[in-house]
Amino acid sequence: MSSADRVVLVLGGAGTVGSGVVKALLDKGFKVAVISRDSGRLDTLSSFVSPNTKDNLTTIVGNVGSEDGAEQAKQQVLKAVGKITDVVSSMGFSWWQGGPPHTQTLKDLHWVIDCLLYSTFVSWKAFFPLVRDDPNCTYTFITGGAGEKLLMPGTGFLTVGAASTLAFCQVLREEYPNVACKLNQVRIDTGVASSERLAPGFLNHLELGQAVAALVERRSTSHSIFNINCPEDLKTVLFDQHV
Ligand SMILES: NC(=O)c1ccc[n+]([C@@H]2O[C@H](COP(=O)([O-])OP(=O)(O)OC[C@H]3O[C@@H](n4cnc5c(N)ncnc54)[C@H](OP(=O)(O)O)[C@@H]3O)[C@@H](O)[C@H]2O)c1
Repeated sequence: MSSADRVVLVLGGAGTVGSGVVKALLDKGFKVAVISRDSGRLDTLSSFVSPNTKDNLTTIVGNVGSEDGAEQAKQQVLKAVGKITDVVSSMGFSWWQGGPPHTQTLKDLHWVIDCLLYSTFVSWKAFFPLVRDDPNCTYTFITGGAGEKLLMPGTGFLTVGAASTLAFCQVLREEYPNVACKLNQVRIDTGVASSERLAPGFLNHLELGQAVAALVERRSTSHSIFNINCPEDLKTVLFDQHV
């Protein structure tokens, strides 16, 4: 199956990380579908990708963070593109620093878990069955290293939310050890930003996108965690043909 025959659904594809992945996949000749709650973000994404690849991008307004919304979006995507062969899940948010736990409310914690865990789970439950039984298919989670440590004072709920996503990915690896689909995780332990917002040590979302697209294209490993701690890791970890 060539890239042109593969259709990648990028969950969170209108976001910082997701948009880099979308552009890189399109540049490699994949067809790509993106669902966002915000039509404005989808318009921005359409004008961001390479103009000659725009016809291969399908955008749908929907909410994959609720069970009904995810099912509805799934039907719309399948109607528009016919099939999904690969999924990249990049759900959540770029940063959270609401303050130490004693200053936060249950509502704040609920919001964080909703973005990082519930939306990842609900969308996985809706879309995994489309790719689960085919060894030519892939499902790749983007996660954050914040789940293993406090990044700085006031970011505690980010750690709680990111840790819940890491735990969910671990559960999937252990519950489905023999699943045919290539199930992988790219764990990023540094900041990611667009070219205009890059800070020292950050990953450019375009370079990260190219590396994730190479992993999806290769589909040679499963149940692996690719740890990305600095820009150099993109070359050694994700572009390496041996992994
Ligand atoms: N940016 C970084 O520095 C960085 C570093 C390490 C790891 N990561 C990881 O990368 C992932 C994506 O981060 P990002 O920086 O790309 O965030 P982002 O720019 O805020 O994009 C997040 C995407 O997730 C979707 N989403 C969030 N909550 C949702 C919900 N409840 N229902 C439906 N969709 C929801 C959003 O969809 P809509 O388009 O509908 O709003 C958005 O497209 C996160 O898991 C994060 O931990 C990011």
